[in-house]
Amino acid sequence: MMKNRTPKVGRNAPCPCGSTLKYKKCCLNKAKLDPAKLKSVYAKKYQIRLKQPDDIEGIKTAGMIAVDLLYVLESEIKPGITTNDINTLAHEFIVKKGAVPAPLNYKGFPKSVCTSVNETICHGIPGKLQLQSGDIVNVDVTPILNGYYADANKTFLVGETGPKAQKIVRVAQKSLKTGMSMVKPGNTVGDIGWAIQRYAEGEGCSVVREFVGHGVGFDFHEPPQVPHFGTKGEGISLIPGMVFTIEPMINLGKKDLVILEDKWTAVTEDGSLSAQFEQTVLVTENGFESLTPYDL
Ligand code: MF3
Ligand code: CO
Ligand code: CO
Repeated sequence: MMKNRTPKVGRNAPCPCGSTLKYKKCCLNKAKLDPAKLKSVYAKKYQIRLKQPDDIEGIKTAGMIAVDLLYVLESEIKPGITTNDINTLAHEFIVKKGAVPAPLNYKGFPKSVCTSVNETICHGIPGKLQLQSGDIVNVDVTPILNGYYADANKTFLVGETGPKAQKIVRVAQKSLKTGMSMVKPGNTVGDIGWAIQRYAEGEGCSVVREFVGHGVGFDFHEPPQVPHFGTKGEGISLIPGMVFTIEPMINLGKKDLVILEDKWTAVTEDGSLSAQFEQTVLVTENGFESLTPYDL
């Protein structure tokens, strides 16, 4: 008979059984972590719905639409394109694949994607703005296919960009990669934020606090919240079947933000550049798998 394998959890991490004790003071050596029990504990205590193999396939298929779309956008985004043009292109791409763009009418959001230019941190509303050489633009796409949501975004360089634009895009991209590298059973949600914050601040940049990653798959935003800052070892222990986004928003200047009159657009208070990269990740037995696996 195969050895009954229990998920790997750090000795000092919060016990995944849901008690507030450290793992070593609780379920470690007590063989209490049977998968069925964990599933109900994560549901009851954290409202986290673990994903089964069929769900994962569904999210992955939606995720491939997001990935393919981001590659199309990469080749189409050049000086002169408007953020409305980007919205139209993305909307038509998503609908042609038989999917639905989650942002459209979500809590009153009026468009099918978010387009966030230069000092805009996130939730920019597509409009008449024409992109110019030297700009950066984030496009955030969330197709729903057969009821499954996949959430991903990328920041694109427009035409010939300067060193500040190139730096913030590089740091935001590496921030996502750094966060993803922490995803494995036994690590915690806090480990992800801690690693991102340490890296981004080490580069002289700052991490936005007001917006966080989130569970995703059955709905647009599910528990848990995944901050891009934090303390090593704190927060919920990661276990196989969890699906959530990591989507660090990194500013070249200070971390503070202002929300514009439209109630959506978040911009840096100091006017500095901001960039973001997002993928939807699955916690596996050994680590993670991206369900929106564009190249990082
Ligand atoms: N896609 C965003 C996220 O990563 C949420 C956008 S909400 C919208 O969570 F309404 F602005 F679309
Ligand atoms: Co998201
Ligand atoms: Co998103």
